[in-house]
Amino acid sequence: MSENRVAVVTGSNQGIGFATVQELCAKFEGSVYLTARSEERGLAAVEELKKLGLQPKFHQLDINDESSVLKLRDHLKDTYGGLDVLVNNAAILLPFKEGLSDEVFAEHAKTTMQTNYFDTQRVCKILFPILKPHARVVNLSSMLGHLTQITGEDSVELKAKLSSPYLTYEELDGLMQNFVDSAQKGEHTKYGWPATGYYTTYNVSKIGVSAMTRIQHRDFERDSREDIIINHVHPGYVNTQMSEYRGVLTIEKGAVAPSWLALLPPNVQEPKGLFVWCDKTIVDWVKGPMPPLD
Ligand SMILES: NC(=O)c1ccc[n+]([C@@H]2O[C@H](COP(=O)([O-])OP(=O)(O)OC[C@H]3O[C@@H](n4cnc5c(N)ncnc54)[C@H](OP(=O)(O)O)[C@@H]3O)[C@@H](O)[C@H]2O)c1
Repeated sequence: MSENRVAVVTGSNQGIGFATVQELCAKFEGSVYLTARSEERGLAAVEELKKLGLQPKFHQLDINDESSVLKLRDHLKDTYGGLDVLVNNAAILLPFKEGLSDEVFAEHAKTTMQTNYFDTQRVCKILFPILKPHARVVNLSSMLGHLTQITGEDSVELKAKLSSPYLTYEELDGLMQNFVDSAQKGEHTKYGWPATGYYTTYNVSKIGVSAMTRIQHRDFERDSREDIIINHVHPGYVNTQMSEYRGVLTIEKGAVAPSWLALLPPNVQEPKGLFVWCDKTIVDWVKGPMPPLD
């Protein structure tokens, strides 16, 4: 039975994804796939883990490329009859540094939303049909994806839409697209989105990932397959390329909550569809409060 179980971590040639693969190799009963958009970087990362006595497998996966996701799906279906664990870790952050133009902000909005929200959603839409009963899905969000990151008087209506228990994929896609389109004209704040700043485009994309997780949770509650659980997680402020190596946690610490969620035992009651902090506590995604950083 365990021979046929399989776990996949997207974007895992470095950072939190890499450490999550390491943790899963030690604790998951089944095959663990390290995936990377670059075969070269992926295979090098696999070699690093092999030196530690671990046995990750490798598959190429670029979430920006539909055919790459489809190839992975077919491989999982043919080899394992489906998928048991999916950690949606791959993401980008394009900081809006001082001196950059409005045009660059608009481009960042488009590119970031495409990878972090739309292409992560596409991975889910392609791989969810092959999830097996008791599967676990973990979406890497961020404290910067917490709903309270949207501030300002004009944002009350927007926050109500994003947190609605009736929100649909179509409505959420429309809201995310509205951010991208309004950012092209420098008009995003008119619609309640946060003002242009260092993390704004990343913020909004991760708010999208978190709002999407709540929709996906509702869908799994109605799914005919038994006990499929999804959660979204803030892994902590982690020392990776994304944080420009300023994060306070090691990648191993950053992988603690994501891998715990990936390994939730069968038929647990909680967490389900919830926003989980790096110390494994559950945080109300709508109201907060968020715990202090450390
Ligand atoms: N670091 C933090 O403090 C922090 C805090 C909160 C949340 N997070 C979240 O945690 C997750 C991991 O972040 P990290 O800090 O470990 O970042 P990282 O070190 O920059 O690693 C990101 C990984 O995603 C991959 N990736 C990017 N675009 C991809 C694509 N199109 N297809 C497949 N893989 C792709 C990267 O591949 P390449 O090596 O080829 O670029 C890399 O392996 C992200 O979702 C991030 O938003 C991080």
